[in-house]
Amino acid sequence: MPRLKHFKKKYGPWVLVTGASSGIGLAFAKQLAALGLNIILVARRKKRLSALSTELKTKHGVETKVVCADLSRDDFMNVIQSATEALEVGLLINNAGFGTTGHFVENELSREIKMLHVNCRAPLILAHYFGKLMKDRKKGGIIFSSSIVAFTAVPLWSNYAATKSYDLLLAEGLASELKDVGVDVLALCPGTTEAEFQETAGTKKIMPMSADIVVAAALKGLGRKRVVIPGWFNTLNVLLIKLQPRSWSAKIFGAVIRSIQKKVDNR
Ligand SMILES: NC(=O)c1ccc[n+]([C@@H]2O[C@H](COP(=O)([O-])OP(=O)(O)OC[C@H]3O[C@@H](n4cnc5c(N)ncnc54)[C@H](OP(=O)(O)O)[C@@H]3O)[C@@H](O)[C@H]2O)c1
Repeated sequence: MPRLKHFKKKYGPWVLVTGASSGIGLAFAKQLAALGLNIILVARRKKRLSALSTELKTKHGVETKVVCADLSRDDFMNVIQSATEALEVGLLINNAGFGTTGHFVENELSREIKMLHVNCRAPLILAHYFGKLMKDRKKGGIIFSSSIVAFTAVPLWSNYAATKSYDLLLAEGLASELKDVGVDVLALCPGTTEAEFQETAGTKKIMPMSADIVVAAALKGLGRKRVVIPGWFNTLNVLLIKLQPRSWSAKIFGAVIRSIQKKVDNR
């Protein structure tokens, strides 16, 4: 991918990756460090971030910064702002997120609100803050980790699918708003991907894609596409969702979640 040689110039020198401690965020951090970008690693688990920071510095000779932040907290932005004040963040990876499985009204409301905060409120605040700085510099990029479930209602994942739709539509709107000022925005819409997501959500994995492949597709698409759906199977799924009546796809996806649900998660 020769285009990636220009990545550092266009999206550097620093990239901020939320959810860098595992799964898709971890893969983003590794691939972007390999391209020579300095990485700000954001998540709650400090030990993991510190180990990753050492690995990236040693392997790729880049600078790193570990920022422990709980993105569900009202005041998380204070931590991020003070940690990044002196750094030029040219790329924001709005990736941290989680899901719950189960009947919405029986799930614990506080956890559903926490999901809304991590999956939607935090990416909104981060995109507003760093997007403005990028607009002023007339360069940069923002990637949102959405999902193929952004395209349909999903019973037993009702709130999760709604949060991913929010990410998709916010990304698509911003892609239009910021295009002419040199800032590229992309919604990454994976299907099942190798990560800790399923463990947290209480589901089994069905035919997971590797997080490395998913991330490579996103980095290849940034600046060229607004939405990236990695893999032919996921692309076909989204196409079928678009062709069907909405109630049919909700029914099908609801049945899929029921079949992969480990237990009813009413935490
Ligand atoms: N895996 C899939 O099948 C799949 C499919 C489509 C879309 N996605 C999306 O991909 C994104 C990444 O998830 P993943 O699949 O890589 O799952 P994962 O392995 O569970 O990673 C989730 C990341 O989010 C961070 N995170 C969760 N809650 C947080 C909080 N309150 N504050 C700060 N960080 C928090 C976690 O870090 P700490 O726990 O250390 O805080 C972790 O680094 C999510 O937005 C998810 O919706 C995943």
